Amino acid sequence: MTVRVGILGATGAVGQRFIQLLDDHSTFELAALTASEDSAGKSYREAAKWRVNTPIPDDVAEMTVGATTPEDVPDDIDLLFSSLPSSVAREVEPSFLDAGYVVSSNSSNDRMAQDVPLTIPEINPGHLDLIEIQREERGWDGALVKNPNCSTITMVPTLAALDEFGLESVQVSTLQAVSGAGYSGVTSMEIIDNAIPHIGGEEDKMETESRKLLGTFDGAELELHRMDVAASCNRIPTLDGHLENVFAETEDDASPDAAAGAMRSYESADLPSSPEQLIHVFEDPERPQPRLDRERGGGMQISAGGLQETANGLKYNCLAHNTIRGAAGASLLNGELLVEEGWV
Ligand SMILES: NC(=O)c1ccc[n+]([C@@H]2O[C@H](COP(=O)([O-])OP(=O)(O)OC[C@H]3O[C@@H](n4cnc5c(N)ncnc54)[C@H](OP(=O)(O)O)[C@@H]3O)[C@@H](O)[C@H]2O)c1
Repeated sequence: MTVRVGILGATGAVGQRFIQLLDDHSTFELAALTASEDSAGKSYREAAKWRVNTPIPDDVAEMTVGATTPEDVPDDIDLLFSSLPSSVAREVEPSFLDAGYVVSSNSSNDRMAQDVPLTIPEINPGHLDLIEIQREERGWDGALVKNPNCSTITMVPTLAALDEFGLESVQVSTLQAVSGAGYSGVTSMEIIDNAIPHIGGEEDKMETESRKLLGTFDGAELELHRMDVAASCNRIPTLDGHLENVFAETEDDASPDAAAGAMRSYESADLPSSPEQLIHVFEDPERPQPRLDRERGGGMQISAGGLQETANGLKYNCLAHNTIRGAAGASLLNGELLVEEGWV
Protein backbone atom coordinates (compact mmCIF):
# COMPACT_ATOMS: atom_id res chain seq x y z
CA MET A 1 0.00 0.00 0.00
CA THR A 2 1.33 3.44 -0.94
CA VAL A 3 0.49 6.40 1.30
CA ARG A 4 0.72 9.83 -0.34
CA VAL A 5 2.30 12.31 2.08
CA GLY A 6 3.09 16.02 2.13
CA ILE A 7 5.29 18.29 4.26
CA LEU A 8 4.15 21.66 5.65
CA GLY A 9 7.24 23.84 6.13
CA ALA A 10 9.30 21.65 3.81
CA THR A 11 12.14 24.12 3.19
CA GLY A 12 13.29 24.45 6.84
CA ALA A 13 15.81 22.44 8.88
CA VAL A 14 13.27 19.83 10.00
CA GLY A 15 11.53 19.83 6.59
CA GLN A 16 14.84 18.91 4.95
CA ARG A 17 15.30 16.00 7.37
CA PHE A 18 11.80 14.80 6.43
CA ILE A 19 12.81 14.79 2.78
CA GLN A 20 15.99 12.88 3.57
CA LEU A 21 14.11 10.28 5.67
CA LEU A 22 11.27 9.90 3.14
CA ASP A 23 13.65 9.22 0.26
CA ASP A 24 13.14 5.53 -0.57
CA HIS A 25 10.59 5.05 2.24
CA SER A 26 8.89 1.66 1.92
CA THR A 27 5.28 2.94 1.92
CA PHE A 28 5.27 6.76 1.92
CA GLU A 29 5.39 8.65 -1.38
CA LEU A 30 6.20 12.36 -1.09
CA ALA A 31 3.65 14.24 -3.20
CA ALA A 32 3.29 17.80 -1.76
CA LEU A 33 5.60 20.43 -0.29
CA THR A 34 4.58 23.75 1.23
CA ALA A 35 6.39 26.73 2.76
CA SER A 36 5.86 30.49 3.20
CA GLU A 37 4.51 32.84 0.53
CA ASP A 38 8.15 33.74 -0.30
CA SER A 39 8.83 30.16 -1.41
CA ALA A 40 5.44 29.32 -2.98
CA GLY A 41 5.58 28.82 -6.75
CA LYS A 42 9.33 28.12 -6.80
CA SER A 43 10.94 24.76 -7.45
CA TYR A 44 12.15 23.10 -4.23
CA ARG A 45 15.75 23.47 -5.43
CA GLU A 46 15.25 27.25 -5.74
CA ALA A 47 13.25 27.68 -2.54
CA ALA A 48 15.32 25.62 -0.07
CA LYS A 49 18.85 26.33 1.08
CA TRP A 50 19.71 22.62 1.32
CA ARG A 51 21.94 21.87 4.32
CA VAL A 52 21.47 18.15 4.94
CA ASN A 53 24.50 15.86 4.45
CA THR A 54 23.01 13.91 1.52
CA PRO A 55 22.04 15.44 -1.88
CA ILE A 56 18.47 16.66 -2.54
CA PRO A 57 16.65 13.75 -4.21
CA ASP A 58 16.35 14.72 -7.93
CA ASP A 59 12.58 14.26 -8.09
CA VAL A 60 12.06 16.44 -4.98
CA ALA A 61 14.36 19.19 -6.31
CA GLU A 62 12.03 19.67 -9.30
CA MET A 63 8.76 19.68 -7.29
CA THR A 64 6.95 23.00 -6.99
CA VAL A 65 6.52 24.38 -3.47
CA GLY A 66 2.95 25.35 -2.63
CA ALA A 67 1.61 27.90 -0.16
CA THR A 68 0.66 26.50 3.27
CA THR A 69 -3.11 26.45 2.79
CA PRO A 70 -5.44 23.45 2.32
CA GLU A 71 -6.37 24.78 -1.14
CA ASP A 72 -2.73 24.42 -2.26
CA VAL A 73 -2.45 20.78 -1.15
CA PRO A 74 -3.89 18.06 -3.43
CA ASP A 75 -7.01 16.32 -2.05
CA ASP A 76 -5.48 12.86 -2.49
CA ILE A 77 -2.78 13.43 0.15
CA ASP A 78 -3.35 10.90 2.95
CA LEU A 79 -1.00 12.29 5.60
CA LEU A 80 0.74 15.61 6.26
CA PHE A 81 3.90 16.15 8.27
CA SER A 82 4.17 19.60 9.83
CA SER A 83 7.45 21.37 10.56
CA LEU A 84 6.21 24.94 10.73
CA PRO A 85 7.26 27.49 13.35
CA SER A 86 4.83 27.00 16.26
CA SER A 87 3.37 30.51 15.88
CA VAL A 88 2.46 29.68 12.26
CA ALA A 89 1.33 26.11 13.04
CA ARG A 90 -1.06 27.42 15.71
CA GLU A 91 -2.82 29.48 13.03
CA VAL A 92 -2.75 27.13 10.04
CA GLU A 93 -2.88 23.53 11.34
CA PRO A 94 -6.59 23.83 12.31
CA SER A 95 -7.52 24.74 8.72
CA PHE A 96 -5.94 21.48 7.50
CA LEU A 97 -7.75 19.51 10.22
CA ASP A 98 -11.06 21.15 9.29
CA ALA A 99 -10.38 20.15 5.69
CA GLY A 100 -10.01 16.51 6.79
CA TYR A 101 -6.23 16.03 6.68
CA VAL A 102 -4.40 13.84 9.17
CA VAL A 103 -1.42 15.86 10.49
CA SER A 104 1.65 14.51 12.31
CA SER A 105 3.27 17.62 13.71
CA ASN A 106 6.57 18.66 15.26
CA SER A 107 5.50 22.13 16.35
CA SER A 108 5.02 22.74 20.08
CA ASN A 109 1.51 24.29 19.93
CA ASP A 110 -1.18 21.98 21.37
CA ARG A 111 1.29 19.35 22.65
CA MET A 112 -0.23 19.55 26.12
CA ALA A 113 -3.87 19.91 24.98
CA GLN A 114 -6.08 17.32 26.71
CA ASP A 115 -7.45 15.96 23.43
CA VAL A 116 -4.23 15.88 21.38
CA PRO A 117 -2.14 12.70 21.42
CA LEU A 118 1.52 13.41 22.22
CA THR A 119 3.09 10.14 21.20
CA ILE A 120 6.28 8.16 20.87
CA PRO A 121 5.15 4.92 19.17
CA GLU A 122 7.34 2.66 21.32
CA ILE A 123 6.12 4.30 24.54
CA ASN A 124 2.44 5.28 24.43
CA PRO A 125 0.80 4.17 21.15
CA GLY A 126 -2.56 3.79 22.95
CA HIS A 127 -2.79 7.58 23.39
CA LEU A 128 -3.68 7.81 19.67
CA ASP A 129 -7.24 6.92 20.70
CA LEU A 130 -7.54 10.51 21.98
CA ILE A 131 -8.29 11.28 18.32
CA GLU A 132 -11.88 10.09 18.88
CA ILE A 133 -12.33 12.70 21.63
CA GLN A 134 -10.53 15.34 19.56
CA ARG A 135 -12.85 14.81 16.60
CA GLU A 136 -15.91 14.96 18.81
CA GLU A 137 -14.84 18.10 20.66
CA ARG A 138 -13.36 20.07 17.79
CA GLY A 139 -15.54 18.84 14.96
CA TRP A 140 -12.48 18.01 12.86
CA ASP A 141 -12.67 15.40 10.12
CA GLY A 142 -8.89 15.08 10.22
CA ALA A 143 -6.64 14.24 13.15
CA LEU A 144 -3.76 16.00 14.91
CA VAL A 145 -0.90 14.08 16.54
CA LYS A 146 2.19 15.68 18.06
CA ASN A 147 5.65 14.41 18.87
CA PRO A 148 7.49 15.78 21.91
CA ASN A 149 10.30 18.26 22.08
CA CYS A 150 13.74 16.90 21.15
CA SER A 151 15.15 17.05 24.69
CA THR A 152 12.08 15.28 26.11
CA ILE A 153 12.21 12.43 23.59
CA THR A 154 15.89 11.80 24.44
CA MET A 155 15.09 11.02 28.08
CA VAL A 156 11.58 9.55 28.07
CA PRO A 157 12.32 6.09 26.60
CA THR A 158 14.84 5.50 29.42
CA LEU A 159 12.28 6.68 31.98
CA ALA A 160 9.62 4.41 30.48
CA ALA A 161 11.99 1.48 31.05
CA LEU A 162 12.67 2.57 34.66
CA ASP A 163 8.99 2.98 35.43
CA GLU A 164 8.72 -0.73 36.20
CA PHE A 165 10.46 0.27 39.48
CA GLY A 166 7.90 3.07 40.10
CA LEU A 167 9.33 6.46 39.09
CA GLU A 168 8.92 9.10 41.76
CA SER A 169 11.15 11.97 40.75
CA VAL A 170 13.54 12.90 37.98
CA GLN A 171 16.14 15.64 37.69
CA VAL A 172 17.81 16.22 34.36
CA SER A 173 20.48 18.54 33.06
CA THR A 174 20.95 18.75 29.28
CA LEU A 175 23.85 19.48 26.92
CA GLN A 176 21.99 20.36 23.74
CA ALA A 177 23.32 20.71 20.20
CA VAL A 178 23.03 23.95 18.23
CA SER A 179 20.89 22.39 15.45
CA GLY A 180 18.03 22.25 17.94
CA ALA A 181 17.74 26.02 17.65
CA GLY A 182 17.43 25.91 13.83
CA TYR A 183 20.05 27.12 11.36
CA SER A 184 20.09 30.75 12.46
CA GLY A 185 19.11 30.12 16.08
CA VAL A 186 22.46 30.58 17.81
CA THR A 187 25.27 32.57 16.19
CA SER A 188 28.84 31.25 16.10
CA MET A 189 29.98 34.27 18.16
CA GLU A 190 27.58 33.23 20.92
CA ILE A 191 28.37 29.52 21.07
CA ILE A 192 32.03 28.88 20.13
CA ASP A 193 34.15 28.49 23.30
CA ASN A 194 30.96 28.78 25.32
CA ALA A 195 27.89 27.16 26.90
CA ILE A 196 24.55 28.90 27.38
CA PRO A 197 22.72 27.82 30.55
CA HIS A 198 19.23 28.71 29.36
CA ILE A 199 17.01 27.62 26.44
CA GLY A 200 13.73 29.52 26.46
CA GLY A 201 10.70 27.33 27.24
CA GLU A 202 12.70 24.09 27.07
CA GLU A 203 12.70 23.25 30.77
CA ASP A 204 8.95 23.59 31.04
CA LYS A 205 8.51 21.33 27.97
CA MET A 206 10.67 18.59 29.51
CA GLU A 207 8.87 18.85 32.84
CA THR A 208 5.33 18.65 31.41
CA GLU A 209 5.61 16.61 28.20
CA SER A 210 7.40 13.73 29.96
CA ARG A 211 4.52 13.38 32.45
CA LYS A 212 1.97 13.34 29.61
CA LEU A 213 3.94 10.74 27.60
CA LEU A 214 4.14 8.41 30.61
CA GLY A 215 0.58 9.22 31.69
CA THR A 216 -2.39 6.86 31.59
CA PHE A 217 -5.28 7.15 29.14
CA ASP A 218 -8.37 5.23 30.24
CA GLY A 219 -10.37 5.86 27.08
CA ALA A 220 -11.99 9.01 28.47
CA GLU A 221 -9.29 11.06 30.15
CA LEU A 222 -5.53 11.25 30.22
CA GLU A 223 -3.93 11.34 33.66
CA LEU A 224 -0.38 12.71 33.86
CA HIS A 225 2.30 10.52 35.47
CA ARG A 226 2.71 11.37 39.16
CA MET A 227 6.53 11.81 39.06
CA ASP A 228 8.11 15.21 39.71
CA VAL A 229 10.43 16.36 36.94
CA ALA A 230 12.97 19.21 37.24
CA ALA A 231 15.03 20.14 34.17
CA SER A 232 17.98 22.44 33.54
CA CYS A 233 18.68 23.03 29.84
CA ASN A 234 22.02 24.09 28.38
CA ARG A 235 23.20 24.79 24.84
CA ILE A 236 26.72 23.62 23.97
CA PRO A 237 28.77 23.80 20.75
CA THR A 238 27.95 20.35 19.31
CA LEU A 239 26.17 20.23 15.94
CA ASP A 240 23.71 17.37 16.45
CA GLY A 241 22.85 15.07 19.35
CA HIS A 242 21.49 16.03 22.76
CA LEU A 243 23.31 14.49 25.75
CA GLU A 244 21.47 14.48 29.09
CA ASN A 245 22.48 13.69 32.69
CA VAL A 246 19.53 12.12 34.48
CA PHE A 247 19.00 11.50 38.23
CA ALA A 248 16.00 9.29 39.01
CA GLU A 249 14.34 8.13 42.22
CA THR A 250 12.11 5.07 42.17
CA GLU A 251 9.73 3.53 44.67
CA ASP A 252 11.38 0.09 44.45
CA ASP A 253 15.14 -0.30 44.52
CA ALA A 254 16.67 -0.34 41.05
CA SER A 255 20.32 -1.38 40.94
CA PRO A 256 22.37 -0.08 37.98
CA ASP A 257 22.39 -3.64 36.56
CA ALA A 258 18.63 -4.04 36.89
CA ALA A 259 18.07 -0.59 35.36
CA ALA A 260 20.41 -1.38 32.45
CA GLY A 261 18.55 -4.66 31.92
CA ALA A 262 15.19 -2.88 31.88
CA MET A 263 16.47 -0.38 29.30
CA ARG A 264 18.04 -3.02 27.07
CA SER A 265 14.92 -5.17 27.04
CA TYR A 266 12.42 -2.33 26.57
CA GLU A 267 10.60 -3.26 23.37
CA SER A 268 10.90 -1.29 20.16
CA ALA A 269 7.95 -0.97 17.74
CA ASP A 270 7.39 -2.97 14.59
CA LEU A 271 7.27 0.08 12.28
CA PRO A 272 9.39 0.73 9.16
CA SER A 273 11.50 3.46 10.85
CA SER A 274 11.80 2.12 14.38
CA PRO A 275 15.22 0.81 15.42
CA GLU A 276 15.55 -2.90 16.12
CA GLN A 277 16.57 -2.15 19.72
CA LEU A 278 15.11 1.05 21.17
CA ILE A 279 17.77 1.72 23.83
CA HIS A 280 21.42 0.78 23.57
CA VAL A 281 23.17 0.73 26.96
CA PHE A 282 26.94 1.17 26.98
CA GLU A 283 29.20 -0.48 29.57
CA ASP A 284 31.94 2.08 28.86
CA PRO A 285 31.27 5.05 31.19
CA GLU A 286 32.66 7.45 28.56
CA ARG A 287 29.74 6.69 26.24
CA PRO A 288 27.36 7.76 24.82
CA GLN A 289 28.97 10.77 23.14
CA PRO A 290 27.22 13.01 20.57
CA ARG A 291 29.79 12.70 17.76
CA LEU A 292 30.25 8.95 18.14
CA ASP A 293 26.76 7.75 18.94
CA ARG A 294 24.09 10.07 17.48
CA GLU A 295 23.81 8.10 14.20
CA ARG A 296 23.07 4.74 15.88
CA GLY A 297 20.05 3.02 14.30
CA GLY A 298 19.96 5.63 11.52
CA GLY A 299 19.61 8.34 14.19
CA MET A 300 16.53 6.63 15.66
CA GLN A 301 18.09 4.74 18.57
CA ILE A 302 18.42 6.14 22.10
CA SER A 303 21.74 5.55 23.86
CA ALA A 304 22.38 5.36 27.59
CA GLY A 305 25.38 4.75 29.82
CA GLY A 306 27.17 5.59 33.04
CA LEU A 307 24.51 3.99 35.24
CA GLN A 308 25.44 4.41 38.90
CA GLU A 309 23.77 4.27 42.26
CA THR A 310 23.24 7.52 44.19
CA ALA A 311 22.12 8.11 47.79
CA ASN A 312 18.52 8.38 46.55
CA GLY A 313 18.38 6.23 43.43
CA LEU A 314 20.20 6.19 40.11
CA LYS A 315 22.11 8.45 37.78
CA TYR A 316 22.93 7.92 34.12
CA ASN A 317 23.49 9.69 30.79
CA CYS A 318 21.37 9.39 27.65
CA LEU A 319 21.65 10.67 24.09
CA ALA A 320 19.57 10.97 20.92
CA HIS A 321 19.92 12.63 17.51
CA ASN A 322 17.82 15.76 17.99
CA THR A 323 16.78 16.45 14.39
CA ILE A 324 16.14 12.77 13.52
CA ARG A 325 14.75 10.97 16.63
CA GLY A 326 13.99 14.36 18.17
CA ALA A 327 12.15 15.94 15.24
CA ALA A 328 11.52 14.64 11.69
CA GLY A 329 12.09 10.97 12.57
CA ALA A 330 9.72 11.27 15.53
CA SER A 331 6.94 12.66 13.33
CA LEU A 332 7.63 10.11 10.63
CA LEU A 333 7.31 7.29 13.16
CA ASN A 334 4.02 8.75 14.40
CA GLY A 335 2.85 8.82 10.77
CA GLU A 336 3.74 5.15 10.43
CA LEU A 337 1.81 4.40 13.63
CA LEU A 338 -1.23 6.32 12.33
CA VAL A 339 -1.17 4.14 9.21
CA GLU A 340 -0.63 0.93 11.18
CA GLU A 341 -3.53 1.75 13.53
CA GLY A 342 -5.87 2.58 10.65
CA TRP A 343 -6.22 6.34 11.21
CA VAL A 344 -4.91 7.01 7.69
N1 LIG B 1 15.35 22.27 14.57
C1 LIG B 1 15.09 21.28 15.42
O1 LIG B 1 15.95 20.48 15.80
C2 LIG B 1 13.70 21.06 15.94
C3 LIG B 1 13.50 20.01 16.81
C4 LIG B 1 12.21 19.74 17.26
C5 LIG B 1 11.17 20.54 16.85
N2 LIG B 1 11.38 21.60 16.03
C6 LIG B 1 10.22 22.40 15.64
O2 LIG B 1 9.94 22.16 14.25
C7 LIG B 1 9.45 23.34 13.64
C8 LIG B 1 10.33 23.70 12.46
O3 LIG B 1 11.66 24.00 12.90
P1 LIG B 1 12.82 24.34 11.86
O4 LIG B 1 14.07 24.41 12.67
O5 LIG B 1 12.75 23.42 10.69
O6 LIG B 1 12.38 25.82 11.37
P2 LIG B 1 12.87 26.61 10.07
O7 LIG B 1 14.17 26.09 9.58
O8 LIG B 1 12.75 28.05 10.42
O9 LIG B 1 11.74 26.26 8.96
C9 LIG B 1 10.44 26.76 9.02
C10 LIG B 1 9.61 26.31 7.83
O10 LIG B 1 8.32 26.90 7.94
C11 LIG B 1 8.07 27.74 6.80
N3 LIG B 1 7.38 28.95 7.20
C12 LIG B 1 7.85 29.98 7.95
N4 LIG B 1 6.90 30.94 8.10
C13 LIG B 1 5.81 30.50 7.42
C14 LIG B 1 4.52 31.02 7.20
N5 LIG B 1 4.15 32.22 7.69
N6 LIG B 1 3.65 30.31 6.46
C15 LIG B 1 4.01 29.12 5.95
N7 LIG B 1 5.22 28.55 6.11
C16 LIG B 1 6.11 29.23 6.85
C17 LIG B 1 9.45 28.06 6.23
O11 LIG B 1 9.31 28.38 4.85
P3 LIG B 1 10.29 29.44 4.09
O12 LIG B 1 11.56 28.70 3.80
O13 LIG B 1 9.52 29.76 2.88
O14 LIG B 1 10.47 30.59 5.03
C18 LIG B 1 10.18 26.74 6.48
O15 LIG B 1 9.77 25.80 5.50
C19 LIG B 1 9.43 24.40 14.74
O16 LIG B 1 8.14 24.46 15.30
C20 LIG B 1 10.45 23.91 15.74
O17 LIG B 1 10.20 24.38 17.03
C21 LIG B 1 12.62 21.87 15.56
